[in-house]
Amino acid sequence: MMIVEKLSHTTRTMKSSMIRELVASTRDIEGLISFAGGFPSPKTFPAEILKDLYSKVIRDEAAGVLQYGASEGDPVLKKQLIEWEGYDISASQMLVTAGSTNAIYYMTRALVDPGDVIICEAPTFLGSLVAFEATGAELHGIPLDQEGLDLNILHSKVDELQSQGKKVKMIYTIPDFHNPAGLTMSLARRKALIEYAIAMQIPILEDNPYSRLRFSGEALPTLYRLATQDYLNHEVVTEAVTFSKILGPGMRLAFVKGDEKLIERMCSWQQKVNIGPDNVSQRVAARFFEAGHMEPHLAKCCDFYRPYLQKMLEAMAKHLPSYIQYTKPEGGIFTWLRLPEDMNADQLFQQAIAKKVSFIPGSKFYPSNQVKYNALRLNFSFSTMEQIDEGMRSLGKLMEDFYA
Ligand SMILES: Cc1ncc(COP(=O)(O)O)c(C=O)c1O
Repeated sequence: MMIVEKLSHTTRTMKSSMIRELVASTRDIEGLISFAGGFPSPKTFPAEILKDLYSKVIRDEAAGVLQYGASEGDPVLKKQLIEWEGYDISASQMLVTAGSTNAIYYMTRALVDPGDVIICEAPTFLGSLVAFEATGAELHGIPLDQEGLDLNILHSKVDELQSQGKKVKMIYTIPDFHNPAGLTMSLARRKALIEYAIAMQIPILEDNPYSRLRFSGEALPTLYRLATQDYLNHEVVTEAVTFSKILGPGMRLAFVKGDEKLIERMCSWQQKVNIGPDNVSQRVAARFFEAGHMEPHLAKCCDFYRPYLQKMLEAMAKHLPSYIQYTKPEGGIFTWLRLPEDMNADQLFQQAIAKKVSFIPGSKFYPSNQVKYNALRLNFSFSTMEQIDEGMRSLGKLMEDFYA
């Protein structure tokens, strides 16, 4: 028997998140300067504190935390998370998940039937794109302008889809320090998006891995906060928040907030997929909050990343040709370069690898039928200061040579 011949149609046709393959394919290149990955710096992991908390939790609470836990998430952690959010929300409006990847998957499974439409940003996070596609959803990407999702295009796209009898089940957005675009949605755009979604009765999935990694400027309210506090609407926005870029992705810890009835259905998916997230990680995170470590830790993460972003901005200004446009984020871990129409970042990638510099070509971040080639993503949280300068110098030179 050839087991692969037995694979389901979905499994055979679904795509992988090519970024992992792309990063893996360059792993053995000696001296490579990589702006490709999306990893947080291991130097920001609060390893010493976690070492003590993990051993304390196992020492004092083994009977509870090594047992199966509640699929809804550890009540001890949820109490801390509600306090952290700082506004009135009940435990039943929240689900703890193994990373936001699971939260995104559960929400999609809860709402979307094959053929239903998910609206996303174009570009958007590839991990979500491939998860959406695997559920049989039809994806439509809406371009971003300086303020975020372009609402005029969104309105006409939704009208067009609805006139074809299609069900638009979700708008997926990453409003803060967007991956890959580095962009933050303006307050006016946030409000307009919520008002539109309420009027059209289209649920929004707000993916929020980066808002707490703000190195300068004023924090904006999340869509969830605006919807629930200003519009008194607890249904329209569901927000996923991961600890991957704060505590470490290895903990596989995130939480999602939304309408109680939706959360209940998402929990029902969680029961089927993994019963629940890791109990030990959840309790450790709870004790981390209780001991007051979170705010000083976040300040440390921001202090750590700030100079790297600064360096990247300086290096881009110094080395990139003037016709290259790029986002200037105030946080997160990515910036996004828009190249002239005729410059293909997939080709540039091959040339850059030969010069021992890598990035992710923009084409990886679009729904299959909307791919664009004249953009690329740079990560600034992983290389050294010297590598940032040297890598951007090489990249700038390659771009100049492109027209030589
Ligand atoms: C926008 C976005 N959403 C979701 C995730 C996945 O996070 P997690 O590790 O919590 O599954 C990432 C990770 O890079 C991300 O950038």
